[in-house]
Amino acid sequence: MCGIVGYCGPRRVVPVILEGLRRLEYRGYDSAGIVYLEGERLVKYRSEGKLSRLEAIIDEAIIAPAHIGLGHTRWATHGAPTTTNAHPHSDCTGNLVVIHNGIIENYHSLREELKNKGHVFASQTDTEVLAHLIEEYLNKDLVAAVKKAVARLEGSFAVGVLWAGMPDTLIAIRNQSPLVLGVSENDGTFLASDIPALLPYTKQVVFMDDMEMAILKADGFEVFSLVTGEPVKKEVKTIDWNAAMAEKSGFKHFMQKEIFEQPQAITNTVSGRINPESGEIVLPEMHLTEDDVQNIDRIFLVACGTSWHAALVAKYWLEKYANIPVEVDIASEFRYRHLLINERVLTVAISQSGETADTLAGIRIAKEMGAKIITICNVVGSTMTRESHGTVYTHAGPEIGVASTKAFTAQLAALFLFTLYLAQKKTTISAEQSMELGRDLIGISTVVERELPRIQQEVQALVERYYDCRDFLFIGRGLNYPIALEGALKLKEISYIHAEGYASGELKHGPIALIDKDMPVLALVPQDEVYQKSISNVEEIKARQGRIILIGTDGDSHLRNITDDIIYMPKVANAMNPILYTIPAQLLAYEIATKRGCDVDQPRNLAKSVTVE
Ligand code: M6R
Repeated sequence: MCGIVGYCGPRRVVPVILEGLRRLEYRGYDSAGIVYLEGERLVKYRSEGKLSRLEAIIDEAIIAPAHIGLGHTRWATHGAPTTTNAHPHSDCTGNLVVIHNGIIENYHSLREELKNKGHVFASQTDTEVLAHLIEEYLNKDLVAAVKKAVARLEGSFAVGVLWAGMPDTLIAIRNQSPLVLGVSENDGTFLASDIPALLPYTKQVVFMDDMEMAILKADGFEVFSLVTGEPVKKEVKTIDWNAAMAEKSGFKHFMQKEIFEQPQAITNTVSGRINPESGEIVLPEMHLTEDDVQNIDRIFLVACGTSWHAALVAKYWLEKYANIPVEVDIASEFRYRHLLINERVLTVAISQSGETADTLAGIRIAKEMGAKIITICNVVGSTMTRESHGTVYTHAGPEIGVASTKAFTAQLAALFLFTLYLAQKKTTISAEQSMELGRDLIGISTVVERELPRIQQEVQALVERYYDCRDFLFIGRGLNYPIALEGALKLKEISYIHAEGYASGELKHGPIALIDKDMPVLALVPQDEVYQKSISNVEEIKARQGRIILIGTDGDSHLRNITDDIIYMPKVANAMNPILYTIPAQLLAYEIATKRGCDVDQPRNLAKSVTVE
């Protein structure tokens, strides 16, 4: 969703904010804006379109002798993505500005009320209401006015406020939308909706919690609870990411870089968590006692998008190796259905960002119903990790491309560790089996690293024949069915080709009606337990003149007789196929999208972190 950046300190503010916005542009990119205080005057620039459009109009502002300001990159919710609707939004005087991420649900009635009091609105946004509401309450005390205004808001909001009448202060408020402060001894105080914006300046961060207000000055910050009015002592955390990790480093796109970072992401996620001698899985941050584990009757896996696909894979693993029944839920459904949850149900949220609104709401409900909550997450200190009983971090490093890649395979690695952990505790697998599965997991990153360049070349060679298709099907069975879903999601989100994923066996129950010579089908057919069944499904497509790309096992010469194109993969343990077979699907989406001239890192209508419902 929207990106928020704020700074007050000794640096020139405009370059700091622009750099921060650049690093947050994945959160929203339909318009952008910046405001800073020069002398006693607020200077505001806004532009529709990407950040580069804003940069193009503020050349001279870069050297402005200003040291306090705010910036915003927008993912439109209320009002079209125009310059007028771009943040920051001002009150009637133009001396007070706000930036906002989230949705003010009661904005309509507030807007009518304020209009009746004479306030003049310039935009169609919900955000502008807040600027006028603060103005309405503002006498001399900005903090008091902000508190009164926020008390009237319903919905989710992360907000930054700057008032010319209090020229050394930024105010930040968080409710159900992420905000993080960056602190440093001598370099000022920073505000952002996500960590990458802070990395060039500081690794010392403070995560704000819901209904908290922060008062930022160049030499420090204070945080207050908006519920009790009392100061809150916040923990300063050190982030182990660095600024270069959020750079393209010579790759054409973040997505491409992140695809190639997968071996490292998997290795970092696995390393130190499997005892090489005993095969024991070590996941202390899960904070589960022996009793907790033995008491698990059922597991709910809750997630959205790509993370939901990781959950679908994990269901197969958990049921097979840990012998625990698993339900997988899309978080936006989970949160509104009649849940049968008690303290014997373990609820596991899977989320790259740890901020996805639906997933967060889901775990809050499950927690209230007595379930233990574990989060599989890539962002240290994110809201979900703070609200869960335990966490298994994926150590994929910052993922900037909107299409999730390395976070997905790292999630798979973490979920396999989680499976082995439970299986060991419940003794549902033998020590030998456990050692072998652990070794398979450790070994898979080497295989991915070795094969990546070859797979890329082979995918590039076949893109010419497929890049202008209108539709695409992806099919797989068993563990590879979720990978078919993931392949289809990747292709549709970055290339805008209509793509669907199906369990191969489902084809004949309807989708086979779509098959003709214009319908390409990518089929995942490793030599696993369901190989023969998968082959029969492919034959059915062939019989109807479908165009087929097969991803199969090295040496399986039969495949050549039934396909138009083929990419061979090395034989690995069946359980590891989902990690390996994800690679050609990701690369196919990437190569097709770039060939079509699409903006793969910032596809239309999407944003990386979906913090609104
Ligand atoms: O941060 P999360 O893992 O909770 O995000 C979930 C989805 O929004 C995300 O996976 C989305 O589907 C990606 N665009 C997929 O590439």
